[in-house]
Amino acid sequence: MSEIKKIGILTSGGDCAGLNAVISSVVKAADRQGWQVYGIHDGTDGLTERPLSYEILTPKSFSDTPWPRISGSYLGSLNKGVKMDSQAEMSRRFGEGVKELGLDAVVVVGGDGSMNIVSNYCKNAGVKMIGIPKTIDNDTPLTQFSVGFNTACQVCTDALDSMETTARSHHRALILEVMGRDAGHLAIQSALAGFADVCLVPEIPYSIDGIITKLEDIKKSGRSHAVIVVSEGVKTETGEQVSGAKNLVGEKINGGIGEYLSHALNAKYQGFQTRVTRLGHVQRSGNPTAFDRILASVFAAKAVELLANGHTGVMVGFSNGKFESYPLEQVVACGTSLLDAHSDYVRAAHDLGIYVGELS
Ligand code: F6P
Repeated sequence: MSEIKKIGILTSGGDCAGLNAVISSVVKAADRQGWQVYGIHDGTDGLTERPLSYEILTPKSFSDTPWPRISGSYLGSLNKGVKMDSQAEMSRRFGEGVKELGLDAVVVVGGDGSMNIVSNYCKNAGVKMIGIPKTIDNDTPLTQFSVGFNTACQVCTDALDSMETTARSHHRALILEVMGRDAGHLAIQSALAGFADVCLVPEIPYSIDGIITKLEDIKKSGRSHAVIVVSEGVKTETGEQVSGAKNLVGEKINGGIGEYLSHALNAKYQGFQTRVTRLGHVQRSGNPTAFDRILASVFAAKAVELLANGHTGVMVGFSNGKFESYPLEQVVACGTSLLDAHSDYVRAAHDLGIYVGELS
């Protein structure tokens, strides 16, 4: 059995729907173990900055509030990356912060980047950690689903439903640019759910001519509108990154491929007027779907159960219909989970007539 009395919880990386359901569920499950929970503010900043920034959470903090039902992070989050050369110093400050608060373990709610960075801090500082995957990109390795993805997919699907009606009224091809970073999970699953005609993802090369052939086929079939989904991580037809923007640690910031596509299509084909919707951060919001709330609840309960049983250094996940846990070292070694171009999602989209690029 564990000797845990006090744990910390933090949310790290881009926010998404379902984070508050995770936080409140961890607090409830930990309270039933008789543990105290410290909510760390603004990702790891609450432990690495001085003064430390945190608050004590109890089930009462959430029981009479709408927090578990809404998106955003009650604790605040951090999405700025960390320079490799400052990792040792950050680990030291993180470890000191944990020690000062007397935390026996930390629950980290994050995506692939956060699992990597914070598990390094924890390893270097000798802190027990359990990870809970969340991200609208769904690119955290080993788990099939991360908290927040399903809600983001619903937001994109709702947008496609709205776009279809106006595309129909104006006989246009409307382009929806969705997030997802370098992974096409959000794009392909939204395209399937929203019955799109074209879906471009970073993992599959495409050609402007291929898209035009699809649009021409739509015209020939007697339909005079179309909807196109493009993932923000898609590059130009010749492989260039569209946006030159970078974050504080020099990582690229995506955005703009929708506009590129619109111009590139118009330059060669005037069969449809095109317009672009860049959905942006609304994809990280919206009331969490039932699926995300269930994922949040079970992940949270499992994280506390693992700690109570003396486990550390693992991430909870969902795979092949089962809730599991995976060593963080294995999660980190897998890097980012990209869309498999031969997956059933891609194959289904192709078989249903969606242009998904030039499949090999
Ligand atoms: O990882 C989640 C995500 O929303 C990505 O899809 C997107 O590329 C990125 O974060 C945007 O980050 P920020 O809000 O920091 O610009």
